[in-house]
Amino acid sequence: GKFYLEDPSGTVQLNLSKFHSGLYTESCFVLAEGWYEDSVFHVNAFGFPPTEPSSTTRAYYGNLNFFGGPSTTSVKASAKLKQLEEENEDAMFVVVSDVWLDSVEVIEKIHLMFSGYAAMPPTCFIFCGNFSSAPYGKTQIKSLKGRKDFHSWYSRFVFIPGPEDPGPSTILPRPPLADHITEEFRQKVPFSVFTTNPCRIQYCSQEIVVIREDLVNKMCRNCVRLPSGNLDIPNHFVKTVLSQGHLTPLPLYVSPVFWAYDYALRLYPVPDVIIFADKYDPFNISNTDCLCINPGSFPKSGFTFKVYYPSNRTVEDR
Ligand SMILES: *[C@@H]1O[C@H](CO)[C@@H](O)[C@H](O)[C@H]1NC(C)=O
Ligand SMILES: *[C@@H]1O[C@H](CO)[C@@H](O)[C@H](O)[C@H]1NC(C)=O
Ligand SMILES: *[C@@H]1O[C@H](CO)[C@@H](O)[C@H](O)[C@H]1NC(C)=O
Ligand SMILES: *[C@@H]1O[C@H](CO)[C@@H](O)[C@H](O)[C@H]1NC(C)=O
Repeated sequence: GKFYLEDPSGTVQLNLSKFHSGLYTESCFVLAEGWYEDSVFHVNAFGFPPTEPSSTTRAYYGNLNFFGGPSTTSVKASAKLKQLEEENEDAMFVVVSDVWLDSVEVIEKIHLMFSGYAAMPPTCFIFCGNFSSAPYGKTQIKSLKGRKDFHSWYSRFVFIPGPEDPGPSTILPRPPLADHITEEFRQKVPFSVFTTNPCRIQYCSQEIVVIREDLVNKMCRNCVRLPSGNLDIPNHFVKTVLSQGHLTPLPLYVSPVFWAYDYALRLYPVPDVIIFADKYDPFNISNTDCLCINPGSFPKSGFTFKVYYPSNRTVEDR
């Protein structure tokens, strides 16, 4: 029940009392203020580094493109893209998580959703895994195959694998679903994209990060002390992730990361939108000019999902 500050030269016992808001997990960066007495560091203020809005970061670094993609300069710098983004009021992103393709009920609801959008197809559907309701079930991309809904549309269909989809264990980032699973589907639906978890989407001047992982519970289970008082867990969670500048501020034994690709999980500068597809209850929270959205689990939350409108940066429940 004791905590120690440790480095190769020795250890110092900590007495932690006053925590600022957030979920403090091992391996988080923190700022601790207090006094040292009788070989104990008495901490009377324990907090995260302050979050930095991306406008502050960009004012310092200029047009450097941190986000990735082909452009050498940040697309944020383009006034033309910004204008296009604001003018295209019909643009929308539909985000659905836990798209169990082996469940008749889920497939029915997805088709109902498609028919609802038939008159005005969204810019992009973001479908997150698990794509199977059973742990080692077959991911049946086939069950969506050949639907004429897909053919007449210019929507993009982005598929992001979940923790229990076929692929390597729980290590992040996770590669796309294997080609042999998706090949037929991709031939029929040219605008489909089978991508990594997490993934990044650039829409006009906006940077969008999507991750499918049950992070909220994982962070709560592994924090040094659960926040007392108002138990607004999603706010604590979002604050923690943004202040750490990393999607998984957890020790590697809890959330393993491919060292060489750790940069894919970093959130610096803070993107415009982060989609945390999590089985936790749906939420949408704005913090540090970043909109954080959890669509919740489609089958477990009564078939609800989130729609994001980039022209006015708002989210709606559907
Ligand atoms: C830790 O701090 C609390 C409150 O400030 C104090 O009551 C307690 O005795 C301290 N524990 C140690 C081991 O110094
Ligand atoms: C945002 O834009 C969308 C699409 O134009 C519209 O349906 C929605 O009502 C707008 N929301 C707000 C809060 O203005
Ligand atoms: C994947 O879906 C199955 C079925 O609901 C569930 O039991 C499992 O916990 C899910 N895996 C994760 C990590 O969400
Ligand atoms: C978050 O969702 C609530 C309820 O759906 C809505 O009133 C609010 O405007 C949303 N916030 C943002 C930033 O879109």
